[in-house]
Amino acid sequence: MEVAERPMASSHLAALVSLLIPCLLALLLLRLAAVLDPDPDAAVPRIKAAAPLPLRFRHDGAFKILQVADMHFGNGATTRCRDVGPEGGGARCSDLNTTRFLRRVIEAEKPDLIAFTGDNIFGGSATDAAESLLRAISPAIEYRVPWAAILGNHDQESTMTREELMTFMSLMDYSVSQVNPPGFLVHGFGNYHVGIHGPFGSELVNTSLLNLYFLDSGDREMVNGVKTYGWIRESQLAWLRSTSLELQKKIHAPALAFFHIPIPEVRGLWYSGFKGQYQEGVACSSVHSGVLGTLVSMGDVKSVFLGHDHLNDFCGNLNGIWFCYGGGFGYHAYGRPHWPRRARIIYSELKKGQRSWLEVDSISTWKLLDDEKLSKIDEQVIWRHSTDDSDHRVYL
Ligand SMILES: *[C@@H]1O[C@H](CO)[C@@H](O)[C@H](O)[C@H]1NC(C)=O
Ligand SMILES: *[C@@H]1O[C@H](CO)[C@@H](O)[C@H](O)[C@H]1NC(C)=O
Repeated sequence: MEVAERPMASSHLAALVSLLIPCLLALLLLRLAAVLDPDPDAAVPRIKAAAPLPLRFRHDGAFKILQVADMHFGNGATTRCRDVGPEGGGARCSDLNTTRFLRRVIEAEKPDLIAFTGDNIFGGSATDAAESLLRAISPAIEYRVPWAAILGNHDQESTMTREELMTFMSLMDYSVSQVNPPGFLVHGFGNYHVGIHGPFGSELVNTSLLNLYFLDSGDREMVNGVKTYGWIRESQLAWLRSTSLELQKKIHAPALAFFHIPIPEVRGLWYSGFKGQYQEGVACSSVHSGVLGTLVSMGDVKSVFLGHDHLNDFCGNLNGIWFCYGGGFGYHAYGRPHWPRRARIIYSELKKGQRSWLEVDSISTWKLLDDEKLSKIDEQVIWRHSTDDSDHRVYL
């Protein structure tokens, strides 16, 4: 947090340092890429392999997002699994099981984007944050899948600060992650918008039809001498409101938001209803910062995707907006034996017009378990254009 609170006008030195950080990280990335890729030709300097931007719906009118929550990656083969049954491989179970799961899901679902929703690495078990991140994310890069990441509360516990981690991730191959939105002063690191445009050849080729908002929900904080988790600040909500307003001047496209730590209202879903498993208390901040009110007033956000509580994988509706947990993905993360690690898919489809694809027609979600069959569970529609939820209808 010391970094976040740094006075803006401090000096030329601060400006110089902030310019240098991306350069140093780029050099580090080159060095690490050489270490991890023993190809002799790789000595040639390389630039970031960019995802094709803007991202677009496919020719079949669909766009599929894979949410990976809480990988908790450490050092790789030497970092042991937690909370797996005795048949889980014992000492042979490691971070590599997390990598294998990610490869399996990518092969089975062929996602158009992967959203890594924080605690991507478990700082306390990662000797070198950059190396751990490169290993954790490597399947996305290997399969050339565009990916977006945000931070949880554990990522910065190793050798890099939150600012360095977000900068580093923004420079990695196929990443569409950004440190912060240009032209705004916002709290934290990893607040950005990604628009998904219409397919090539459609009339909406230059229009974002699905907006994704990524937010930094912080790590840990002290409030009146009591330890609690971070929360989304007013500066972030102001950016969100203004971005949504600007986007909705063009077209009323639905939006999805991604952040790591749940908001306090998610607790209430225990009483009002949910689909999936609610197996542990919602670990959130004691501060109610008005996130729900802001999202409701914006009108475009149909669903929020969360991480943080690995034993919760439910979706529940608050004031017309779905709040869905990803469910724990990583094997070095706490979990529950015989309750398979899991991933969430978010699938959006466009409406077919007479000559061209139109706006988003429906958004649905389901989960995939890391069992033998990669079982698909809890499929549900979270939004339909034809029955827009402006009347706060609950579809449970
Ligand atoms: C982890 O991977 C090892 C080696 O492939 C395997 O034997 C073990 O069953 C896996 N463990 C789990 C929990 O999937
Ligand atoms: C999309 O933008 C490109 C480049 O600005 C332009 O050439 C093209 O005509 C636009 N297409 C449509 C359908 O608006």
